Amino acid sequence: MLCDAIGNNNFSLVQAIDVCRSFFLGEHSHQALTNVSLEIKKHDFSAIAGPSGSGKSTLLNILGCLERPTSGDVMIEGVSTKELSIRQLSDFRAKKLGFVFQTFNLVPTLSSLENVEYPLLLLNINAKERKQRSEEALKKVGLEKFLKNHPSQLSGGQRQRVAIARAIVKKPLLVLADEPTANLDKKTANEILDLMQQLNLAEKIAFLFSSHDPLVLARANSVAYLTDGQRDESHREQYVA
Ligand SMILES: Nc1ncnc2c1ncn2[C@@H]1O[C@H](COP(=O)(O)OP(=O)(O)O)[C@@H](O)[C@H]1O
Ligand SMILES: [Mg+2]
Repeated sequence: MLCDAIGNNNFSLVQAIDVCRSFFLGEHSHQALTNVSLEIKKHDFSAIAGPSGSGKSTLLNILGCLERPTSGDVMIEGVSTKELSIRQLSDFRAKKLGFVFQTFNLVPTLSSLENVEYPLLLLNINAKERKQRSEEALKKVGLEKFLKNHPSQLSGGQRQRVAIARAIVKKPLLVLADEPTANLDKKTANEILDLMQQLNLAEKIAFLFSSHDPLVLARANSVAYLTDGQRDESHREQYVA
């Protein structure tokens, strides 16, 4: 089965092979990604860098199986997604991937605990286990005293911690984080990065960020640079902190 064969650290989790992505706007088309190849391995802490509009979010969405490439392929755990049904893909996404966004994307009417429980509800996990696992995840991000608070009662950094707890509660293999520190001040951004690095080491969860912040990129074990939708290592120096 897809998700079982995790033996060594070099195991490929998600791989883009010659991925192209075009958006069609009426008669016009725009190629957001051109022949991008990238591999994310077990336990990676890596990043996609590039200026605004360079294709970072598009690539992250494709690696996270939220979107399909126009051409090329995405492999998950060594299996071509072309061979997987929509059901198998959404199953993989629901069980094995976590997502963190720049604007946190919490449900405003739910408490921290309920926000974190939500992905487990979608996996049909019973109420008792949902609560126990969500409390545990919120403890891991340092929010055990904020279980009942709603997003509007939390600071930006605390909201992102809830979002991280929601991403890790299902014990994913990989968390995809789209500019996770872009709305945070420098000190809070560093605390959020510390937390993600700690979860990467302690929980063995791989992280893939998109960012153009040198402070974020300095933490990554490997960085893929994009310019106008293509891999381009020549701008590497531009991102040195
Ligand atoms: N849904 C969409 N429809 C049309 N164009 C899009 C869409 N999503 C992204 N694009 C275009 O694709 C390019 C890459 O966008 P994006 O992946 O969001 O870049 P980044 O995350 O690096 O800022 C941009 O030119 C953007 O306008
Ligand atoms: Mg983006």
